[in-house]
Amino acid sequence: MKQKKFWKLIFCGVAVLLLSACAKTQTGDASRIYVGISCYDQTDVFIKELVTSFEGELKRNGDNKDISTLVTTRDAADSQRRQNTQVKELIDAGCNVLLVNLVDRTDSSEIIELAKKKKIPVIFFNREPVTEDLKQWNKLYYVGGNAKESGVMQGELAADFIRGNNDVDRNRDGKIQYVVLEGEPGHQDAIIRTEEAVNTLKASGIKLEKLGYGVANWNRSQAQNRMLQLINQYQNKIELVLSNNDDMALGGIDAYAKLNRTESSIPVFFGIDGTDEGLVAVKQGLLAGTVYNDKEGQAKKMADLVMMLETNDNSEKDSRFTQQNYLPYAKITKENVADYQSTSSSSR
Ligand code: BGC
Ligand code: CA
Repeated sequence: MKQKKFWKLIFCGVAVLLLSACAKTQTGDASRIYVGISCYDQTDVFIKELVTSFEGELKRNGDNKDISTLVTTRDAADSQRRQNTQVKELIDAGCNVLLVNLVDRTDSSEIIELAKKKKIPVIFFNREPVTEDLKQWNKLYYVGGNAKESGVMQGELAADFIRGNNDVDRNRDGKIQYVVLEGEPGHQDAIIRTEEAVNTLKASGIKLEKLGYGVANWNRSQAQNRMLQLINQYQNKIELVLSNNDDMALGGIDAYAKLNRTESSIPVFFGIDGTDEGLVAVKQGLLAGTVYNDKEGQAKKMADLVMMLETNDNSEKDSRFTQQNYLPYAKITKENVADYQSTSSSSR
């Protein structure tokens, strides 16, 4: 009888030890965190800067907690199928958390299924999955900006500038002739930014006339080509260029430089992002303004989320995070651009 009791006690003790060991790995008693990233296109300027910023933030978080961090970044080169395969490979390689910059926002189901099966949390960033997909599991997150806000701010910047500078209306017809350089169709930031910018300008009493648009998929050289076509079509009638991002605005500016146009026939340009080169262009007055897509804030949010998921016992209850996390945008002109140039470089 005594012996039986003894063995019972030993058995219970071992069971308790085993259970608590399991609990520890599940709640993440991490000494090393391995993060796998898949980008829709690693040549995208904004994405490159965002990922660099994330790597810095994660390392800083790890150093603060004596946790070593490792990051592997893969390039999906604009193919959702390739991205699905990469995610599988990253999971097989032992990643603890995945950061996914979807190629196709409407096609996240295969990635979600894979991750859920292996219990690997996923932080989607910059390209927002549809809400129903995100709600499939409580370890799926999104970090990005609010597209509507960026469009409104671009419209406000343009309205202020036009009100303060009579010569934007070069032909003095009381209307601003404009063109739009558009990002990728289907991206949450493309159509909304254009609509909101134009509506904000109209609501502030500026009379507008749309001449045309060019889809340039966020890309500088595509934007240069689209702009050359628009200039060819509308000659020096174009007074304002609203671009869905900085890189395309810079491509539009390249087109005027290529044609050796004099300053008096170049329209005013507005971008969005505040990339390193975008900020330089604002400083030089080539871009009249841009809207800061807070890559430092987004990178920090993602890095903090990674730490919370891997080290916090009550991850779902951490009130700093919800499943969808939107960082605010900010307006940048020549007056405040220096503040952003220092933020940008100090976090690298
Ligand atoms: C940025 C673009 C970028 C795109 C990629 C947007 O939020 O403004 O610069 O190319 O995201 O998904
Ligand atoms: Ca005009």
